[in-house]
Amino acid sequence: MMLLKTALEAKKQVQKDKKAGFRIGLVPTMGALHQGHISLVQASKEQCDRTYVSIFVNPAQFNDKKDLDAYPVDLESDLKLLEAHGVDAVFIPTVEDIYPEDHPFPKIDLNGLDKILEGEMRPGHFDGVAKVVYRFFEIMTPDVAFFGQKDFQQTVVIRHMTDLFNLPTEIVICPTLREPSGLAMSSRNIRLSEYDRSRAGFLYKTLLKLKEDINYIALEEAVGKAKNYLRNLPGVKIEYFAPVNGRNMEIVHDLSQDYIVCVAVIQFGGIRMLDNIVLKK
Ligand code: PAJ
Repeated sequence: MMLLKTALEAKKQVQKDKKAGFRIGLVPTMGALHQGHISLVQASKEQCDRTYVSIFVNPAQFNDKKDLDAYPVDLESDLKLLEAHGVDAVFIPTVEDIYPEDHPFPKIDLNGLDKILEGEMRPGHFDGVAKVVYRFFEIMTPDVAFFGQKDFQQTVVIRHMTDLFNLPTEIVICPTLREPSGLAMSSRNIRLSEYDRSRAGFLYKTLLKLKEDINYIALEEAVGKAKNYLRNLPGVKIEYFAPVNGRNMEIVHDLSQDYIVCVAVIQFGGIRMLDNIVLKK
């Protein structure tokens, strides 16, 4: 497995692989890797000839400096895991490499996606995500890039960004990997106590129940019921819980549109838990 430590090294290696006719897959990550990340690696290995993973804790997407400082880092075990899963190259750039002082970044208009739901809770977050992914695509020009459904609004932002600049990279969204309890795997889960982690599957179970309920009762009623249930659980605070149009994240009030996702974020056991479910394809 190759370690690429500068943008120039990464660019050259990709160019070499492209010249050899290889289809390049990129899995962008912030490290502290778990099986959820590995499922993206596996998708890339199935669909591409060469799989690159980037590990970069992107300061631009942390609106809260404390969250950035507390972000888990374990490069050694990340590299072991990636090597064991047959990754071809890992790109580990420095902040200076991703954001050189005089680098011309275009303005990325997120068309309001950065102001609602997750964007409203974390001002500046999606600007930072769009900017770093833009920069990775600029350096590596992957044929395909892989992202997780778990961060649903992030996938909508990234699709919007690639459409906006007409970038040639295909975006593939992979299903959310879960712990046996149903809890969506996340680098932040290690901050949960063992007890909280064992019962944290309730969020996904609530989403599954919602999906069942909409067969029998109106969407808004079913959403109200789910929120009431969550609100009454000890230690739970809802940040948002909303059925949206899966293309533009606009809130929907009934099931008349053709692609509806319920996105949910709660605070539990001192961490933010994100999840979502597709209610209608
Ligand atoms: P990070 O949180 O490290 O996640 C990297 C990728 O793994 C994202 O596409 C995320 O959606 C996916 N992922 C995380 N948990 C998953 C799970 N349980 N199942 C499936 N996929 C999962 O998301 C980021 O980093 C950053 O915002 C990034 C895109 C790298 C830009 O900095």
